[in-house]
Amino acid sequence: MERKYIIRGGRPLKGEIEVKGAKNAALPALACTLLAKGNFLLKNVPKVRDVFCMLKILEHLGAKAQFEGTNLQIDTSGIKRTDIPYELASQIRASILFLGALTAAYGEAVIPRPGGCDIGKRPTDIHEKGLSLLSAELDFKHGNIITRAKRLKGAEIILDFPSVTATENLLMAASLAEGETILKNAAKEPEVVFLAEMLSEMGAEIKGAGTDTIFIKGKKRLHPLKIKIIPDRIEGGTFLILSSLFPENEVIIKNLPIDYLETPCLKLKEMGIEVKKVDRNSYTVKRSKKIWPVEIVTAPYPGFPTDLQPLYAVLLTQAEGTSIIRENLFENRFQYAFELKRLGAKINVEDRVAVITGPTPLSGSPVKATDLRAGAALLLAGLIAENTTTLYRVELIERGYENLPQRIRALGGDIEVVEEENEDSKKF
Ligand code: UD1
Repeated sequence: MERKYIIRGGRPLKGEIEVKGAKNAALPALACTLLAKGNFLLKNVPKVRDVFCMLKILEHLGAKAQFEGTNLQIDTSGIKRTDIPYELASQIRASILFLGALTAAYGEAVIPRPGGCDIGKRPTDIHEKGLSLLSAELDFKHGNIITRAKRLKGAEIILDFPSVTATENLLMAASLAEGETILKNAAKEPEVVFLAEMLSEMGAEIKGAGTDTIFIKGKKRLHPLKIKIIPDRIEGGTFLILSSLFPENEVIIKNLPIDYLETPCLKLKEMGIEVKKVDRNSYTVKRSKKIWPVEIVTAPYPGFPTDLQPLYAVLLTQAEGTSIIRENLFENRFQYAFELKRLGAKINVEDRVAVITGPTPLSGSPVKATDLRAGAALLLAGLIAENTTTLYRVELIERGYENLPQRIRALGGDIEVVEEENEDSKKF
């Protein structure tokens, strides 16, 4: 079966759309349940493919999981394995998040090294170095990372780069280690702060999360808990762009984590788009017909998020003049530019810099998602393009957005989800 979205553009949007729980907070939270035996309740969990994939891995390890609405119950009392099969690990890079938790809680782990992916090389050296400084023995066989440790020992670790998932892995590992760990040059993303809060509520002593130095006093035992996943700032940023696509739009974004979106909101302001509070956590945007070009440089939090640059690129095709996007995190994150060109965008990429000239009317064409955020960007581009855009490889979008076409349809967008048998497989 092949899924595709058929988008008929040109319809302004009106109504309410709510931001769901953060995928990038839910994934480490799922790995974190391995650090204590018993019943966990995670609330506000997004039902996206990446979450289901991590759940399959947890079930393979021996956990039981059940969704009730957006509440997810996980029982980790039956964990009996410490290896992750290649078929599952190869589907999701975040499977590396099990490395710290399994090593700390069960003294061993066998995890297929996640290879390169659509957006870049994405090595795991920072995760590995950190664990070995915590006194784990590491070995590499048949493309697997194999760890062994009696009990991890606290250490001072200076990360070569403030990697998000490496910081999360080391936070989890250090929480069960003997003694104190200091993580320097740690990632400051809100999802890291959330994980530190989860670990603290489980019994670890953690200070400094959200700054570049985190102190962790490990405990012999941690306990299960109930916790609510924070809202997804990348989905929030996606909806800010969605709301800004047409000057006539009247969209209210509910549950928007505005505090995590300071830099993206600043860029909107520079473009001439105002983000206005409607009530407590609800916001709307106001823009006039003309919007202005900007320069965007991606950086670790609180810099401009790499995950939002493809979405901003779409809106910048409508700005009056030349915009520049410099991608500093992933070397291969401009593949969507080729697809955006198929819709008529004037975007040129050289190495890590994209130059976009606007305003350019877009018009429909067949295009394909090249990664999760690129896919969402192309969906939004289809909404402002004349005629029909057919978007392929939409499974990539569903890795991180729950029912996105249905939710945009509720605002008046014309997106059809089509599932069809692959004609070739029938023929041959
Ligand atoms: C996380 C997010 C992802 C987001 C990214 C950057 C999750 C599950 N995923 O990915 O959506 O796009 O942060 O905000 O939270 N690096 C190394 N060695 C390592 C690890 C990373 O060189 O061992 C490099 C990477 O190649 C990249 C940079 O560090 O250039 C940042 O990557 P990192 O913060 O690790 O991203 P992820 O945690 O994989």
